[in-house]
Amino acid sequence: MAEVVILPSAVSAGELGAEFVARLVADRPDAVLGLATGSTPLPLWTALAARDLDLSRVRGFALDEYIGLPAGHPQSYRTVITREAVEPLGLTAALVHVPGDDGGPVEGAGARYEAAIAATGGVDLQVLGIGRTGHIGFNEPGSSLASATRVKTLTEQTRLDNARFFDSLDDVPRHCLTQGLGTILRARHLLLFAFGDSKAAAIAGAVEGPVSSSLPGSAIQLHPLVTVIVDEAAASQLQHADYYRFAWDNRLDFER
Ligand code: PGA
Repeated sequence: MAEVVILPSAVSAGELGAEFVARLVADRPDAVLGLATGSTPLPLWTALAARDLDLSRVRGFALDEYIGLPAGHPQSYRTVITREAVEPLGLTAALVHVPGDDGGPVEGAGARYEAAIAATGGVDLQVLGIGRTGHIGFNEPGSSLASATRVKTLTEQTRLDNARFFDSLDDVPRHCLTQGLGTILRARHLLLFAFGDSKAAAIAGAVEGPVSSSLPGSAIQLHPLVTVIVDEAAASQLQHADYYRFAWDNRLDFER
């Protein structure tokens, strides 16, 4: 079962997440981090930046990237990752990758990205947000639980959710490259964050619902080491919230 940690705020969630990253990097200075974009990881990046760790040897792989935005577009995930994570955390840009950034054709980019991840020995810690459709990465409902990095078509819901970052809905790309659910499941530790009541149904489905490609986030139930860090609002539809609180408050010394 995923460990579910319910915290009072996104700020405290970011601080706990930063603790996981700090411990990993203390142990492995060249650890491989799976990076997420969107609003959700921002408290983690803020908390990590405040720690002023040496992350210059850390290698990073973003979950996804839009197809069709020109290089340098402010909303391309390469640009977003650079602005929100690489620069504030002191990551080394050349060690951080997004799908399709190797200069090759889109066709085959998924397989090349999988090979690049595998060549590092695999992702140690994968940061995840979840969309209102239940997607992780851009694995929209219907994604195979075993999927690898590939081209996907975004749902209208996801395009509407992301339209806030663009001048108009028409400007939001229709396609993306995304790590698959199978790719995500190969990371050694999954760290899933969600904040706000708009994510409550997706979190309840991911943690407690049936494992189903209809709610791709539920794939986390197939992984042996998952930490779900949510605020009260995102936890509001969890049936076993009291138990998760009890388990976290009473975790054993070696789990701290
Ligand atoms: P958000 O997006 O962090 O901007 O809410 C999460 C997601 O769509 O995966």
